[in-house]
Amino acid sequence: MSAVFEVRNLGKSFGGLAVTNNVSLSLAPGDRVALIGPNGAGKTTFVNLVTGSLAPDSGEVLLGGESVTRTDAISRVRRGLVRSFQVTRLFQEMTPAEHVALAILQREGRSGRMFGNFLAMPAVMAEVDALLATLGLREHMHRKVNEIAYGQQRLLEIAVALALRPKVLLLDEPAAGVPQSDTGRIEQALADLPSDLAVLMIEHDMDLVFRFARRVIVLAAGTIIFDGAPADVTKDARVREAYLGSYANASDAA
Ligand SMILES: Nc1ncnc2c1ncn2[C@@H]1O[C@H](COP(=O)(O)OP(=O)(O)OP(=O)(O)O)[C@@H](O)[C@H]1O
Ligand SMILES: [Mg+2]
Repeated sequence: MSAVFEVRNLGKSFGGLAVTNNVSLSLAPGDRVALIGPNGAGKTTFVNLVTGSLAPDSGEVLLGGESVTRTDAISRVRRGLVRSFQVTRLFQEMTPAEHVALAILQREGRSGRMFGNFLAMPAVMAEVDALLATLGLREHMHRKVNEIAYGQQRLLEIAVALALRPKVLLLDEPAAGVPQSDTGRIEQALADLPSDLAVLMIEHDMDLVFRFARRVIVLAAGTIIFDGAPADVTKDARVREAYLGSYANASDAA
């Protein structure tokens, strides 16, 4: 299938250090890709570059075959490229319903002045309700973010991202900081994502990676050293050396 998202020869250096080194990859609708690699490999920087929050030194970013390399972050979101953050960026005093309603109104380009009235907008509220129900947050929809558990906050971030109706979803460690008891909910939310959505998830938990991904990309020191099937990644000598050594050895022993 043709690429909905493509990156060609992306490059970025910080103070002479290449953090993104000639990175090329593409995603097709329905892809489920895990992006893994050691701390500091450049995974979050990659997301910052492609979403437009950081300017690359070189390379191209394409959405649906058209270059967005020189467009701003907001117009990339409008064209279907949506991310979540490694550390939650929610408004502590706002409710889940307000977060999702705001995202819907943003998507529809409606003015901020109308925001206060969203409770009286049946279509918006129906969508808020449905999205929060999907993520198991319906009963918390009118509580403040600072009153709900961290795992629920991470789920709310996914709900906000989905409210923007992405074609490409980039998730930066969606389960980070979530207690083991709550990661099942995140996994279920990932399993329930629309089947035609292209998803790239950054994740360190290899068990989660192997349950989610149908393709794995490994980034080490800014360079892609592997892009292929999950079944092959643990066998790859470079990947073992750069990242997976202990995990791969443990799986061999098991
Ligand atoms: N704005 C910046 N200025 C200078 N250096 C930066 C900047 N952002 C990131 N870096 C550096 O770039 C490298 C890659 O960082 P990045 O956050 O992309 O790694 P990561 O793969 O997401 O790591 P982690 O798994 O810990 O989240 C690191 O060495 C980091 O210190
Ligand atoms: Mg990171």
